[in-house]
Amino acid sequence: MTNVKAFVFDAYGTLFDVFSVTKKCEELFPSKGDQISQSWRQKQLEYSYLRQMMGKYRPFSTVTRDALRYAVADADAELSSDNEEKLLNAYKELTVYDEVPGVLKELKEKGMTLAIFSNGSHDMLDPLVQQSPLAEYIDHIISADDINQYKPTPASYTHALDSLELNRENILFMSSNGWDISGAKNFGFHTAWINRNEKPVEKLGLEPDTIYSDLTGIKNWS
Ligand code: LAC
Repeated sequence: MTNVKAFVFDAYGTLFDVFSVTKKCEELFPSKGDQISQSWRQKQLEYSYLRQMMGKYRPFSTVTRDALRYAVADADAELSSDNEEKLLNAYKELTVYDEVPGVLKELKEKGMTLAIFSNGSHDMLDPLVQQSPLAEYIDHIISADDINQYKPTPASYTHALDSLELNRENILFMSSNGWDISGAKNFGFHTAWINRNEKPVEKLGLEPDTIYSDLTGIKNWS
């Protein structure tokens, strides 16, 4: 039996489907939508890692814009400022995965504190959550941008812990991103990997405490 008091969720890929922008990508770049969408996400994460390692931090909204520019160029397409704005705005309207509202509702009814801890900057996260069906359930939106330290640095998870005023053992951290789960495990949180894409465990020697295929399983966490 653990003493979990707060359920802390990664945002992109865990609660929100980042590939719900693929349709808009395909609309603007016929036959290249999936390629651009996949490349956009991969480069967005790569740039966050690289900027962290180089000491060249920029907010995730900037990194997301730059990654989009790269992905479109890599697809030999042109990105107008109007289309760039349309796609970046679509990132503020991502759909939530089907099971998420019901699971968060049940956890809330059990008296749990529910928080998002994301590399997303508040100019991206706050509108995304507010326009979603999750707004009434989320108690805290914690961003790496608060301290200019991206996940998976220990400093970033320290910020989440300090923001919640709890101890490590009181927190269950969930992410669909294996690298993020490894970072949270390294830091000392309880971890549940939401393995939506049936990937292998990262070979970092930092295995998740539990693995679920979606959020449904966490309702039984103890
Ligand atoms: C997040 C992205 C990186 O932190 O998944 O929400």
